[in-house]
Amino acid sequence: MDKTDAAVAAPRSSSLGDEIVARIHQLGAISETPGHLARIFLTPEHHKAADLILSWMREAGMSAHLDAIGNVCGRYEGDKPGLPCLMLGSHYDTVRDAGKWDGPLGLITAIACVADLNRRGKRLPFALEVVGFADEEGVRFASTLLGSRAIAGTFDESVLNTRDRAGISMREAMVAFGLDPDHIGAAARGRRELLGYVELHIEQGPVLEEKGLPVGVVTAIAGATRLAAKLTGMAGHAGTVPMALRRDALTGAAECIGMIEEFCRADESGLVGTVGYIDAKPGATNVIPGNVSFTIDIRAPSDMHRKRAVADTMRKIEAIAKRRQLALQLDVTHENRTVPCAPWLKAQVAEAVAAEGYGVFELPSGAGHDGMAMIDIADVAMIFVRCRGGISHHPGEHVDLADADAGAHVLLRLIENFRPQGT
Ligand code: GLV
Ligand code: MN
Ligand code: MN
Repeated sequence: MDKTDAAVAAPRSSSLGDEIVARIHQLGAISETPGHLARIFLTPEHHKAADLILSWMREAGMSAHLDAIGNVCGRYEGDKPGLPCLMLGSHYDTVRDAGKWDGPLGLITAIACVADLNRRGKRLPFALEVVGFADEEGVRFASTLLGSRAIAGTFDESVLNTRDRAGISMREAMVAFGLDPDHIGAAARGRRELLGYVELHIEQGPVLEEKGLPVGVVTAIAGATRLAAKLTGMAGHAGTVPMALRRDALTGAAECIGMIEEFCRADESGLVGTVGYIDAKPGATNVIPGNVSFTIDIRAPSDMHRKRAVADTMRKIEAIAKRRQLALQLDVTHENRTVPCAPWLKAQVAEAVAAEGYGVFELPSGAGHDGMAMIDIADVAMIFVRCRGGISHHPGEHVDLADADAGAHVLLRLIENFRPQGT
C-alpha cells in the first residue's frame, strides 16, 4: 500500500528526519545577509559552512577534506580500503534570498545515511563518498556547476578570469578563500573511481505534492542555456534630449525582456525564459541610461527545442538593438545538455522507493543539478523529495520533517541494496 500524506504524517521511530531538519536550520543560519539567506561561492560564509559540513562528515565516520575548488569531500571506506565509491551529494551554495533546502537537503541526508551505517558498524562492498559541491547555482561568476565540473575534470580555466559584480576575479576570490587557482585539476576524479552518482534533492516543483507522494524518481535533468547581454546607447540629460533622438539602453533592454516573455509564452511545449538580473548605468533618475547589462536563462524539455529557441532569441535581440541603434554584446555564458538518468541506477532508486512502501512515480527535473557535470565521469540518478507548494529559490521553501525522513530512508535503502552496474 502506498504511503500518502496521512500515512507518513508521523516519522517512524528510527527517524533520520529530526537530525536532518535540525542541520538544515543550522546551515541555513550561515548567511551573508542575516534574514535573507545568501551563501555565495568563495565568501567567508561559504567557508564557515564548509567547516561545519566537514565536522559533520567526520562525526559520521568519514575522512573529510576541502578539495581544490572548495568542494567538501567525505569518504566512508567499504569493507576494505581503496574500493571504488558510490558518490552521493548536492551543493551547499545558495541563490540570493534563498530557501534552506535547495542543495543542503541532499548533502545533509547523505551524511545522515553514512552516520547511520557507521553507528551500526556496517561496511559495504564499496566505498561511499559524499560531496558538498561548492558552486552549483553560479550566482557569483556567471558560469555554473563549478564544483562538480572540477570533480568531473571539465572545469574551464578561462572562468578564473571572470569577475563578480564587485570586480573581484574568481582567481582572487580563490586565493582569499585559501585555495590555489593553479591547482584546480587536483579536484578531478576518474571514471574508474566511481560506481555511480546519486543525488537527493527537493523537487522544486508542485508535482509530488499534487500526487500525494513524498518522493519521486527522476528521469532526466533538463538542459539550460544562460546568456549575458550588454546594450550600449548614449547617456544623456533626461530633460533635454527629445524622445526621438534618444539611444536609451534600458528601454532597449525592456523591449528585449518583453520579447523573451512573449516568445516563451507563445510556445506551448514547455519553453521557459527568465531575465533574473539587470543593471542600468549610470543609474540616476535624471539621466538616460547609457549602459545596461542583463542575464537570460532559457530551458526547454528537449535540447533541440532549447537550441532553436536560443538562436531565435539571439536573432530577435540583435534586431531590437539594431533598430534602436544600440551596440550589443551577447554571450552564451553557460550551456548544459539534457542529462538522462541511467536506466540501471534509476531502476535501483525505484526499487528503494517501492521497498519503503511508496508509490513509484517518475518525473523529469526542470531545474539544473550537479549531475549535469557528473555525467562526464559517472552514471547519474536522482531522488526528489516533495516540497511545500513547489516553492523554491525563495525563502518560503519548505520540506516536512516526515518527507525529509522518507527521503533519507529511501536513500539509505538504495545504498544498502546497491549493486554496481552489471553485477
Ligand atoms: C539551479 O538551481 C538551476 O536550475 O538554475
Ligand atoms: Mn538552486
Ligand atoms: Mn539545487
